[in-house]
Amino acid sequence: MFEIIANIAGLIIKASWLMLPAYLANPTAVVFGGGTPIDFKKNWWDGRRIFGDGKTFYGLIGGTACGVVAGLIQMQITSLQYLGTFTMISIFALSFGALLGDMIKSFFKRRLGYERGAKFPLVDQLDFVAGAWILTYAFDPVWFSDNFLASPWIMATVVLFTPLLHRLTNIIGYYARLKKEPW
Ligand code: CTP
Ligand code: MG
Repeated sequence: MFEIIANIAGLIIKASWLMLPAYLANPTAVVFGGGTPIDFKKNWWDGRRIFGDGKTFYGLIGGTACGVVAGLIQMQITSLQYLGTFTMISIFALSFGALLGDMIKSFFKRRLGYERGAKFPLVDQLDFVAGAWILTYAFDPVWFSDNFLASPWIMATVVLFTPLLHRLTNIIGYYARLKKEPW
């Protein structure tokens, strides 16, 4: 029993370490967000916003920068390198990809008629994982294969653990008055 718990804890720690740039990009976009929306308030052909007011340049740039800084710090912590080592490209792709995934999600939310901030269960929680993984796979396939594809257990842990973590950070963000909704 103890061994199982220790193994699960080990998987969560390793998964969080590898995903940290992406995990930080998402909530820091909320902190830095505001100002001009990426779609410049323009509508799509269906008369609805392209992305909506929830996707701004400051959020995208601030969030990406925070994820990248986190990754650069992680590269310096030699004592934790056994959890996984990063490349410059993987750090950028994880951070930017997370917010790109979030933005593409918003595009489809608007097409489906969901208002900005409307709840879209599971998609709201895994959009940035999908974005981070796809972009990292596209730009640094070797890193992605070594760190994720080679360890399906790590990938499964990310998919199961992220929604829990996301829910928790959004509740904190809501009570800290950073977010309008607790999801
Ligand atoms: N944010 C931002 N720019 C981004 C991503 C997020 O400015 N690229 C900020 C916005 O203030 C946004 C908040 O972070 O309202 C929360 O992000 P998210 O939940 O992804 O957006 P929603 O407002 O819920 O909009 P959507 O319905 O499009 O998901
Ligand atoms: Mg939201």
